[in-house]
Amino acid sequence: MVPATWLAAGLVAAAAAATRAAAAPGEPGVAIAGYTPVTNVSAHARIDLDVKAIEEAGTDYAAARQVYTAGANSAKDGGQRTLQGFSTAYAVAGPARAEPLAAASHAFWGDWDYANRHVLAALAGNDSATYGDYGSGVLAADAAARTQVIKKVIKFSLIPQYVQHELEEALASYTLGQYEDAAMHWDEGWAFYAGSLEGGNGTGYSAYILAEKRARNFNTTVGAQSSVNVRFLAAMAAGQGQVAVAGNAAALLQTVKCIRGLMAVPPIQGCLRYAYKVAAVLLAAELPKEAAEAWAFCAAALPGLAAVDPAVAAAVRAETFLSGSRRAGWPVVRAAFGAATLNAMGVRCADVGTLNAEYPASAHPVCEDGVVANDNQGTDFC
Ligand SMILES: *[C@@H]1O[C@H](CO)[C@@H](O)[C@H](O)[C@H]1NC(C)=O
Ligand SMILES: *[C@@H]1O[C@H](CO)[C@@H](O)[C@H](O)[C@H]1NC(C)=O
Ligand SMILES: *[C@@H]1O[C@H](CO)[C@@H](O)[C@H](O)[C@H]1NC(C)=O
Ligand SMILES: *[C@@H]1O[C@H](CO)[C@@H](O)[C@H](O)[C@H]1NC(C)=O
Repeated sequence: MVPATWLAAGLVAAAAAATRAAAAPGEPGVAIAGYTPVTNVSAHARIDLDVKAIEEAGTDYAAARQVYTAGANSAKDGGQRTLQGFSTAYAVAGPARAEPLAAASHAFWGDWDYANRHVLAALAGNDSATYGDYGSGVLAADAAARTQVIKKVIKFSLIPQYVQHELEEALASYTLGQYEDAAMHWDEGWAFYAGSLEGGNGTGYSAYILAEKRARNFNTTVGAQSSVNVRFLAAMAAGQGQVAVAGNAAALLQTVKCIRGLMAVPPIQGCLRYAYKVAAVLLAAELPKEAAEAWAFCAAALPGLAAVDPAVAAAVRAETFLSGSRRAGWPVVRAAFGAATLNAMGVRCADVGTLNAEYPASAHPVCEDGVVANDNQGTDFC
């Protein structure tokens, strides 16, 4: 339950906003893609305008780098919020490093600010044995590949970790009895995930769009929408009530675990889809762009996979690493995301669905869940 005073404040703020020319998405009472914040996260939601500017900069890497490092559209107390800061925040030791996704990502990449390093390597056109050969690699050095990696690592690795950061912060604040801080962090998580331009069906510029796009490829829609986003939104609404009052610690933790599992799904679907396209569908001329997409999606999926099976993750990395002219090996990538690894990641087979929906020859039926030993999901709404 949200306290009546907050609801009243939200309604007053919404009414005040309505009298102005245009209420901004993320103001109290003004929904972003179906979620209605109780705090003012309109400035946070505008981080997607930086993503859009970077996309529109194309191969003007200096312009893209300027927006990425200095920020442009998302003000915060004492200055400008930057996309780069979402990743470099972890370069400084602190409690955030204990977050499950941050810890798993560090274990896999070897760097706390791995997403930032990946984006900078692609922006600079430098070779990196860890992130890709953007200087000399036959595929990676292509402009179509570099621009894909820049925007997709930002949207599907860098931003999602910071979305989870806000939800983990909400959990931490809640544990200390700081309910207003918890509500603020909870709202910020969704503001970053969806962004100010997201209308609810994948028309925006932040992480939300991937679930919408891949759900259509993998037959994981509910009605016209991605099952992941429908359930993520339901979990956000549940959590908004949970953070508002005492006594919900266990339920809130379960909600956060549910969201961790849901957020793992779209990059897995992306890794599968593009690995298949690169292996079996595309002409050589199309490879730089699409191999880069495969690598960017797999890069987002690999830390979670490595946390449950390092050898399998190493095999997928070897197939998809962006460097020479080699095509990914589809059977390796397909086998990597079977029931054993998915269930251990808190993902059900039906969450990932089937690539047969789009590519019947992919021989990728929905897998069959094993006995799920972890408690990562386990709630009805998830
Ligand atoms: C919300 O915050 C933005 C930017 O910080 C500000 O411009 C706007 O007036 C605020 N809206 C409300 C309703 O307080
Ligand atoms: C890219 O390589 C150049 C030349 O070695 C170096 O000066 C620059 O710092 C590198 N940039 C990044 C982001 O690694
Ligand atoms: C989203 O909705 C708009 C308007 O209703 C429509 O034009 C667009 O095609 C939709 N996009 C997707 C990805 O479904
Ligand atoms: C898509 O899912 C529906 C049920 O959710 C099922 O009936 C249908 O066969 C699936 N399509 C494919 C191609 O698997």
